[in-house]
Amino acid sequence: MTASLSTPEEEKFLVDLEPAGRRVEVDPGTTLLEAAQKAGVDLLAVCGGIGVCGSCRVRQVSGSFSPLTQTERDHLSSLQIKEGFRLACEVRPASHVKIEIPPESLPVEQKMQVEGEETGVTLEPGVIALDVSLSEPSQEDLRSDCTRARDAAAEQDNNLSFQADLLAVNLVSHTLRQQGWSGRLVIRPNATGANLVAVLPPGTGYLGLAVDLGSTKIAVYLVDLQSGVTLARTAAMNPQIAYGEDVVSRIAFADKAKNNRMLLQSRLVETLNKVSGNLCQQSGVGCDRIVDVVVVGNTVMHHLFCGLPVTQLGAAPYVAAVSDPFEIRAVDVGLKTTPGAWIYLPATIAGYVGADHTAALLASGAYNSVRSMVLVDIGTNTEISLVLQGKISSCSTASGPAFEGAHIHDGMRAAPGAIERIRIHQGTIQVDTIGNVPPVGLCGTGILNAIAEMLEHSVLDRRGVLRQDKGAKWFNSKGEFVLVPADRSAHGREIVVTRRDIHEIQLAKGAIRAGIEILLMEAGIPALRVDQWIIAGAFGTYLDLKSAIRTGMFPAVPLESFRQVGNAAGMGAKKMLLSRQKRTEAELMARQVKYIELTSLANFTPKFMEELYFPGNIDYLLAERSRKSELV
Ligand code: FES
Repeated sequence: MTASLSTPEEEKFLVDLEPAGRRVEVDPGTTLLEAAQKAGVDLLAVCGGIGVCGSCRVRQVSGSFSPLTQTERDHLSSLQIKEGFRLACEVRPASHVKIEIPPESLPVEQKMQVEGEETGVTLEPGVIALDVSLSEPSQEDLRSDCTRARDAAAEQDNNLSFQADLLAVNLVSHTLRQQGWSGRLVIRPNATGANLVAVLPPGTGYLGLAVDLGSTKIAVYLVDLQSGVTLARTAAMNPQIAYGEDVVSRIAFADKAKNNRMLLQSRLVETLNKVSGNLCQQSGVGCDRIVDVVVVGNTVMHHLFCGLPVTQLGAAPYVAAVSDPFEIRAVDVGLKTTPGAWIYLPATIAGYVGADHTAALLASGAYNSVRSMVLVDIGTNTEISLVLQGKISSCSTASGPAFEGAHIHDGMRAAPGAIERIRIHQGTIQVDTIGNVPPVGLCGTGILNAIAEMLEHSVLDRRGVLRQDKGAKWFNSKGEFVLVPADRSAHGREIVVTRRDIHEIQLAKGAIRAGIEILLMEAGIPALRVDQWIIAGAFGTYLDLKSAIRTGMFPAVPLESFRQVGNAAGMGAKKMLLSRQKRTEAELMARQVKYIELTSLANFTPKFMEELYFPGNIDYLLAERSRKSELV
């Protein structure tokens, strides 16, 4: 089914994508990945289409395709090649074609962390509501609709005067007449005065949206701004994943063609509208009741959401276009809310420490604690802060997508069938999967746990070398550690841990630990003197702490000093939605953070190299004893 690409220049090809049932017309030379993106099909492209991850697997159904490349031969088994599998980022149609996208090449529903530790906040949202009754215009009273509404608001609240822009004016005239000259005015105080945001029926509840934009997942909370109650919450995959798994691949995609940045923004907003529409539907309200929005995210997500350029974030010295708190109108990015609503984006700390970390610091309470704390928010990029005597120092480290299951031979996201726990016991290997279904692959928690177990049973040494002499029965002919034999997996193939997988984990955990150690060294405090270790983020929530310590990702400190707080960034966004005071606190805090650019430090690389090694045996009791003796 292969053919040369000698086609007339003007000829276009049709690509049918199944089972999505989409058809798209493409120019010769277009890859199948580009065709899928053009058709709006979220085909996984973990490496952003540069041929290194193998996640974009599709199957040829009919038509002619460009010849198999060496990259494809490296990523596909001979059986897969025989069955017609190709890598979508490598192959180009040479005629009208039909392809099938297997489920494993599509983003799947996965275990997503929406919840986080909640602490109370005094209600003082970014908008206020006033129920007013107005007199109708007459020959004796010719005030405009807006003046009439403003006067009524001032009568209720002496100091209040608002501006109304075109959208709000449109609303005022129409809605006041429709509602018999009464209504609930929703007003947003700002630095220079106030804006009219909405005119709702009197007594109507008004809602806010808190959003945490992760590179992989988006968490959304619909909140009643009058009571502070979260009405509904959910998480969705970030659709930009189809254009690259991490922020670096997304920046590369955004820079590749003129419209790509806007494409990334519109895909994100489309998903947000879908998700918030569902939340409103569940709560029995319309999206026009959303009168205020807070969005947090890493700096690249923040910029892409706003439609800002990201090129400068892709190269040293990685500066943001804007780091101050930023406010934009919802309508300007196409977010479905009441037409006059605004979006508040908190301050970012640095190019790779975004507003999501500002929000996480706010939610954890770490920033104003007298206790010493380390906050680690694990993602494809891991942000780390040390809070000591009221001072915060932060850094960011590229931990890569290995903990999302990417770049791992049998890696997958935390979806049903993912192995999350492994036990080597009396010569047997037992695995637990998400959903208790036959195993399909390994999620981040699973691979970390597997490596910890392999270290414990000496089939892996400190350098990360597999010791076949210590457990030959667990290795296959390629020298891979077999967790699940072919006859016990869901797909009839072995599930293995390879030397390359171990190396990926060494890089990821080494980067996190080196970041932690540098912050501690700069502050002159040993790990055992840190009172609390706060672990945030989806992976951090499900992470097995013992495995994290056993593999050296975290120092050997007592387990009880850890707190796994869930989606701290989402909780921080919610706090800022409910409290103007919290927005101010977050702004002040972000300004005083001392950012440490790890790559500019001479000792970072040696520390990172050192942390690639796995530790020797960890004695938790010993760690506890040494802590106690140090504190005496
Ligand atoms: Fe195709 Fe990574 S190999 S997207």
